[in-house]
Order: sequence, then C-alpha cells, then structure tokens
Amino acid sequence: MTSLRIYAPATSANLSVGFDSLGVAISPVDGSLLGDVVQIESSSVPFELENVGAFARKLPKDLHKNIVYQAYVLFSERLKLRGGEIKHLRLTLEKNMPIGSGLGSSACSIVAALVALNQFHDNPFTEMELLAMMGELEGRISGSIHYDNVAPCYLGGLQMMTESQGNICQTLPFFDDWYWVLAYPGIKVSTSEARSILPKNYSRQDMIAQARHLGSFVHACHTQQAQLAVSMMKDFIAEPYRENLLPNFSAVRQGCKDLGAMAVGISGSGPTMFAIAPDLALAQKISAFLEKEYLQNSDGFIHICKVDNQGVRKIN
Ligand code: HSE
Repeated sequence: MTSLRIYAPATSANLSVGFDSLGVAISPVDGSLLGDVVQIESSSVPFELENVGAFARKLPKDLHKNIVYQAYVLFSERLKLRGGEIKHLRLTLEKNMPIGSGLGSSACSIVAALVALNQFHDNPFTEMELLAMMGELEGRISGSIHYDNVAPCYLGGLQMMTESQGNICQTLPFFDDWYWVLAYPGIKVSTSEARSILPKNYSRQDMIAQARHLGSFVHACHTQQAQLAVSMMKDFIAEPYRENLLPNFSAVRQGCKDLGAMAVGISGSGPTMFAIAPDLALAQKISAFLEKEYLQNSDGFIHICKVDNQGVRKIN
C-alpha cells in the first residue's frame, strides 16, 4: 500500500433530546467536504506527523497533545498486545474543522486517524474494538467518554448509543430529506468546560419529561413521523445551562423558529447552532438570517447539510 486518504465527516451530537446518546453525521448539500482528512503512507523513519489545513494553526504545538499522535500511540499499544507490529509510517492531518465548534472536530481527527491506521495494517481490529478506542481518545479531550460524535462520524447516519449487547451504538432510521442549517459563529467553546457547568443532579420532573421526549423521538424515527420527531427535540439537560455561552442564542433561536425552522438547537456542546428546514428554499432563508445574526468573525461559517449515511470513507 503506498498512500491512503481517509475522510471523516462532521457530526452533530445530542439533537437536543439525546444528550450523550444521539449523534448524526452530516454533509453539505453542495458536495463540499466538511470534515478532516488523514493521509497515511510508508516512511523510512518510525513515525512522522504533519498538520496542514485551515485550522492546523489552532492545534496544540506539543506533539504529545495532538490527538492524532495519541491515536497512533494507542493503536500501537493495542496492536502490540495482540502480537502485531506497527509499521514505519507518515501521517498527514488535514485539519479542516474548527476546534471547539460543536461539530465533532476532535472526533473527525480521531476517526480518520484510527481508520487509516487500521486499514494500513490490514484491519487487525473490529468495528466495535476501533470504536471503543475512538471513545477512549474522545474522553481524554472532553473529560468523559461519550460516543455521540465518534460513532456517527465512523458509521454514518443517526446513531443511538445503546452501549449494550456488545454494541456501543445502533443505527436509527431517520429523516433523510431534512435540511440541516449549521452555523458556526467562529468562537470556541471547550467541550470539557461546557460539560463542567452542567448540574450534578436533575429534578424528577425533568427526568420524566426527558424520558418521554427521547422515547417519543425514537418512536417517531421508527414510524417516520417527522412532526412528532421535531416536536420532541427539546433539551432538558444541557441547553438551558449552556445557552449563555453562545452569542445571543435565545433571540437567534426564536428568529429561526419565526422563519419556519422545524427544530433549532445547540449542535453538540456548541457554539454551532443547528436549524432544521423541510426544504432548500427555507434552509437558504434561515442560512441568510444566521449569517447576519449569529456569525461573530471571519472564522465563522454556515453550511446547509443533509444526513451523511456513509460516515468515514476513503477518498482520492
Ligand atoms: N454530548 C456531548 C456534549 C457532545 O454535549 O457534551 C460534545 O460534542
């Protein structure tokens, strides 16, 4: 094998109703790639890593803090444990995703790196073994293991973190015709900080409401009731506590709803916002509104996306 390029797509975790338990992979409808790429090739020295791409300048300078390096170390250790030997290799990380964006940026790098390493070594690890490693690496960055970005990034579609019966997650039927308007304002919100501000305990009332909403949402997915699904996308766990981290969030959310968005919420731990539209014309209207009202600087961007059912993949 000479050289291999692996693309890992952006993801939106939580979908308001499934904190740490739901995540969806997304791709822009204009055909552009929103995600990181890792290239792997043979090398004459044991290990080389180069960072390129629009957000490479935001990566930690210390190699040991680079998540792709950490993925390499973890993969090597696990391979050794089963009697395998790591090859001499060179990795290039194309860091296209902004860090701390709520679009699964770290997941993109982790998934692309581990899939590249696994393929380069003729797939010594199974899907679930690799996914477990991905969760472990994600946990180092965000403070606790959660799979709601790495799982959809890896497997595509809408993933439910079942964490049972030998499966970390299972694919849910979803609504492929929804348009996802994703607006990244250009500022950073660290996932570990956004997690640390959440309450330690929730009231019985909130727990009952949360269970009803998540159960009904999953039912709506299986029975393809779009209206029921969007009306259940309500967040009792994180959004009420996180919205102050985002610029003018409640007014902007209301503005999207007034325009006709079916659901609006925080993507992952933010600051990206998502708004769901039933058709492209409305998605474009919402996109123009968000561009004016939500973007804070030139790093910010908006993408109109649909569900990406493929997940991680080889590209040329
Ligand atoms: N479920 C995680 C959180 C996703 O909301 O903290 C982080 O992207």
